[in-house]
Amino acid sequence: MRVCVIGTGYVGLVTGVCLAHTGHDVLCVDNNEEKVKLMRSGQSPIYEPGLSELMKKNMDEGRLSFTSDLGEGVNHGDILFIAVGTPALPTGESDTRYVEAVARGIGSHLRTGYKVVVNKSTVPIGSGDWVRMIVLDGVSERQKQEGTTADVEVAFDVVSNPEFLREGSAIYDTFNPDRIVLGSNNQKALDMMQQLYTPIIERKYADDPSLPPVPVVMTDLSSAEMVKYAANSFLATKISFINEIANICDRVGADVKQVANGIGLDSRIGQKFLQAGIGWGGSCFPKDVSALIHTADDYNYEAQLLKAAVEVNNRQRLMAVEKLQQMLKILKGKTIGLLGLTFKPDTDDLRDAPALNIIEQLNRLGAKVKAYDPIISQTGMRHGLSGVIVETDPELLADGCDALVLITDWDQFKNLNYSKMAKLMHSAVLIDGRNYLDRKHLEEAGFQYIGIGH
Ligand code: UDX
Repeated sequence: MRVCVIGTGYVGLVTGVCLAHTGHDVLCVDNNEEKVKLMRSGQSPIYEPGLSELMKKNMDEGRLSFTSDLGEGVNHGDILFIAVGTPALPTGESDTRYVEAVARGIGSHLRTGYKVVVNKSTVPIGSGDWVRMIVLDGVSERQKQEGTTADVEVAFDVVSNPEFLREGSAIYDTFNPDRIVLGSNNQKALDMMQQLYTPIIERKYADDPSLPPVPVVMTDLSSAEMVKYAANSFLATKISFINEIANICDRVGADVKQVANGIGLDSRIGQKFLQAGIGWGGSCFPKDVSALIHTADDYNYEAQLLKAAVEVNNRQRLMAVEKLQQMLKILKGKTIGLLGLTFKPDTDDLRDAPALNIIEQLNRLGAKVKAYDPIISQTGMRHGLSGVIVETDPELLADGCDALVLITDWDQFKNLNYSKMAKLMHSAVLIDGRNYLDRKHLEEAGFQYIGIGH
């Protein structure tokens, strides 16, 4: 099928590359010429394991190309994905101006033939109908400019198709989804989407192709939009829940890791997303939970549980600093080393990362902050970072520190030379903000080890 993906941010690029890989003819559009140039040269503008390789392969095999010309994209695709950003405004609402601009642009380039316009961006509930209106606005604006009559045949339908991919395992998640959600009030559009996803539904590119086909959930437009918010809000709340239990564990002397295992084996609860620590961050959870709270507010409903999940999370980020105070007492003049900066491993993403709040609070208390992160230290990317010295290796980081805090559960942090690092420090204290390291191993290396509820 001929597909156009508009917006080559995280979601757009991964979607475009993966759909090309399943055999479709994909043209990705981005209005950033520099980015288009970079992608045309076979380079991915984002760090995601396996993405550049897959991108190059599909470009070489002629199924994937890039343009900055929206008209060319709209012409090319029978299915047009809108995958531009919907960042949170300071109020918590989503900023939908990019979606609006793209929808209007699609309208202004729509000619004859039937198209499916797919909302892949996480948009406020009710956006499907709104996108339809904006596309139609775009159509009439063009017709006015061209002096054509309003009865030129323009046929399209809008589908909401939320994505659930996680940074760091985006390609795996795309080829091995738990479900595919398609929301539309039109059967023809739903049928085309089902056809588009057939190779994925049949698990042709899955790790285990013998599993039964991927369930396809077909809903109306608003329900599909709500599924995305509800899923992310549930997962964020689940983490806040286990973090609350961890804080109580700390006080009563229980171990949250054992508790999580004990409750997670109940199949109604499940083992996943019960890892206690310094809380959730990133580009999705904080934005989506706030947006849902805001939507509820608009309809005169106070989402108390979701608000509490956010409050627990904000407090949880500073739990690492509280533990440093318990260990070191006065933090003024002390040097604290952070292991990891990104909001989770296998990404270079610092958006709403707990590290940012921790650095700010440590600075406020007069501590000197250093950090080592496997990706940030390498790439030199410092977007949004201030008040921290980024070191190039873990031993340089440890040198002269009064304590280390593990911020991100990067795999390579399991096997650092901790005994050497302990000797380089003023005092060998380690706060494990992800309950990730082995206490015994760290204690043998000479550290005083402190977990979160563990
Ligand atoms: C999330 C959703 O998982 C994905 O379905 C959606 O499409 C986008 O948002 P992502 O933000 O990439 O994906 O990361 P995820 O792996 O879900 O982790 C989110 C945050 O929660 C991270 O900061 C992580 O460290 C934290 N987390 C996760 C915990 O603190 N404990 C856990 O048990 C799991």
